[in-house]
Amino acid sequence: MKEKKLWGGRFDAPPSSLMIRIGESISFDKELYSHDIEGSISHSRMLKRIGILSESEQRKIETGLIQIKKEIDSGKFEFKIENEDIHMSVESRLTELLGDLGKKLHTGRSRNDQVSQDVRLYIKSEVEAILVLLADLLSAWIGKAEAHTKTIIPGYTHLQIAQPIRASHYFLSHFWANVRDFEDFLDVYERADELVLGSGALAGVNYATDREFLRKDLALSRISENSIDAVSQRDHIFKFLFAASQFMIHVSRFCEEIILYTSQEFSYFKLPDHLTTGSSIMPQKKNPDVAELIRGKTGRVIGSLTHLLVMVKGTPLSYNRDFQEDKLPLFDTVKQIKLSIEGVRDMVLGIQVFPENALRSLRLGFSTATDLADWLVSAKGIPFRSAHEIVGELVKHCSAKGYDLFNIPSGERGQIHAVLTDPGYEAAISLETSCDKKDVMGGTSFLRQKEQIKRAKAKVNELTKKLKSIESKGKK
Ligand code: ARG
Repeated sequence: MKEKKLWGGRFDAPPSSLMIRIGESISFDKELYSHDIEGSISHSRMLKRIGILSESEQRKIETGLIQIKKEIDSGKFEFKIENEDIHMSVESRLTELLGDLGKKLHTGRSRNDQVSQDVRLYIKSEVEAILVLLADLLSAWIGKAEAHTKTIIPGYTHLQIAQPIRASHYFLSHFWANVRDFEDFLDVYERADELVLGSGALAGVNYATDREFLRKDLALSRISENSIDAVSQRDHIFKFLFAASQFMIHVSRFCEEIILYTSQEFSYFKLPDHLTTGSSIMPQKKNPDVAELIRGKTGRVIGSLTHLLVMVKGTPLSYNRDFQEDKLPLFDTVKQIKLSIEGVRDMVLGIQVFPENALRSLRLGFSTATDLADWLVSAKGIPFRSAHEIVGELVKHCSAKGYDLFNIPSGERGQIHAVLTDPGYEAAISLETSCDKKDVMGGTSFLRQKEQIKRAKAKVNELTKKLKSIESKGKK
């Protein structure tokens, strides 16, 4: 007799080859195995508690499930496409091991609540791992900032040189974006931290399932309120993919800056050899591939978010088979985001800064023109609009003659306006002074940089505490 499906009772014919090939998810959802087994162990303990399994039956089931986990861990487990998904693969192996007893495990449970639970457990554990990596990245930013409170580089708007900034300020600007990412991933963790088992297929179950017991046993913080909603919604995945997309967008901007700043025209930064590649034809090349790949992966991650949103849109409640496809974008994003965090961290740690090249651009870009105008206002009593005009003419003259604000002779300045020959001119265009005058909270002055590094460290301490607390909560 042909082997029957676990759900094959009411069928006369087995599924076609197409049905098997289109329906299988084992090729990707095996990723969930440890969480599936964890959920099943708790479920079996709960079944014992409510008198459906005897103590020895439960023990055998738990031992069998642990053995299956070891088989999968070690790569010995044989996944069969006929078993459709990870849930049925584990259950059918359990039945192989325990005979009819294995068939008792699915009492009071549906794959609809099971898969939703597995994914929540998976997200929790992956978010924990992501937060560990992110904490590392945050420390890398701070380390780089501390090494460069004195270094001055150009700050841009419209990719036109705008004003001098401390390099520490620049590194910390990316740090704070990643702090928000960290906090958003904490929110993802909270969102996923819910017990949905007991929801059954959609309506609840015909057994006295002890959901509070399951909640505690799985170290979850709350129980879903509505069984229909519990098996229908994928908000925890949306939220994960959004947090991931936001992180990728943040770091794609840094990657773009790395690509620009390591190019010959800028040369502010250099990446270490181990993070770059050569060209098979052009011997002189050193390409910033890590930065480019992460920039490229950003599209992939945003695509995953779009994939999921569109997949769920307009589907009627509750579960629909479409949802089986939710795992592909999720798993892929987990991998891409981890790689990307590590990649950014290594670039941050490895960047070498070349202040002399930054200085060349700062001069070329007339980066202290605003400071000069402000000095005309404050020291010389010239109205701002007129000061703007005078400095504008000075810049025009310099550009035409190939000067910058630092090397234009005093006599030529005097032709534009007598006030520009004042001895205060030099100090007014100084890069250091320009930075240090931005002495507002959050500004680029040296002292504010020192202050901001302290604040950044305090933030990392606060976030590390939160991470520790979820790490200890996760441990049963
Ligand atoms: N493999 C399925 C999924 O990932 C499990 C749930 C199947 N439920 C069902 N009613 N066929 O969504």
